[in-house]
Amino acid sequence: MNLQEQAMTATDTLSWNEEFVLGDARTDHTHQEFIDLVNATTAAASEKKLAIYQELVRHTVEHFAQEERWMSACGIPSDFCHFGQHASVLQVMQEVERRALNGEIAYIGSMIEALVEWFPMHASSMDAGLVSYLQEKGFDTATETFKGGAPAATAEAVPSCGHEPGHACG
Ligand SMILES: [Fe+2]
Ligand SMILES: [Fe+2]
Repeated sequence: MNLQEQAMTATDTLSWNEEFVLGDARTDHTHQEFIDLVNATTAAASEKKLAIYQELVRHTVEHFAQEERWMSACGIPSDFCHFGQHASVLQVMQEVERRALNGEIAYIGSMIEALVEWFPMHASSMDAGLVSYLQEKGFDTATETFKGGAPAATAEAVPSCGHEPGHACG
């Protein structure tokens, strides 16, 4: 592999490592699948790229919906920044799908590079914050139930999403 190939590999693939392990089996499994689909999109031959990218989009819809369902179950309001970040990422992914369906396939490569940069930050801040919050509240993601009964929804019922208190979410 020459230097240029190495540089390309570094920006368009993700490798699963222990920094991605957040300690919730369902979240970790979903994130592994996400990484596999990102890498499969990069590795796909150009005639298969769009189909695999569409699988990644479908998977991401489910991935985000799953976390949002858990947040809603805990009484976290839908204007919490984690919901907003999912919505903007998904909107761009779907726009790229629309363009690729029109033949502008090169957008997929740029989208993958953006996801490779975005995902580790999102996982280590918002998703990590959510996992510890769910564990603190006794929410079992396998059964989607609370071990000790659902906690009352309160204004403070918002997990950390990784930024300093008082700072706006990125
Ligand atoms: Fe996630
Ligand atoms: Fe998330």
